[in-house]
Amino acid sequence: MTDFVRICAQSELPAAGQVREFVATGRALCVANVDGAICVLDGTCPHEGGPLGEGTLEKGRVVCPWHSYAFDVRTGAPQDDAELRVEVLEAKVENGELRVKL
Ligand code: FES
Repeated sequence: MTDFVRICAQSELPAAGQVREFVATGRALCVANVDGAICVLDGTCPHEGGPLGEGTLEKGRVVCPWHSYAFDVRTGAPQDDAELRVEVLEAKVENGELRVKL
């Protein structure tokens, strides 16, 4: 059974308008803060494996630092290549920490 795993303290979350990379159980995650809403995606870009958590956040999309492909942080939907989609993970912030269902 998959369970919620602690990712970080609430104080470590990215500031509004930013993304940050975390690694949990060996998996890279991209945590995005869209105007206070925390979204968590798989941190490995489906294009060529770039680190999405080191990208930038623009208009609700994370932009990969390697070749600038952009993905909606709420749905994982790509802006360009319809075949490249990022998995979005269920996440919750409670008791001062971010937990994600892995
Ligand atoms: S690896 Fe992310 S856009 Fe190419």
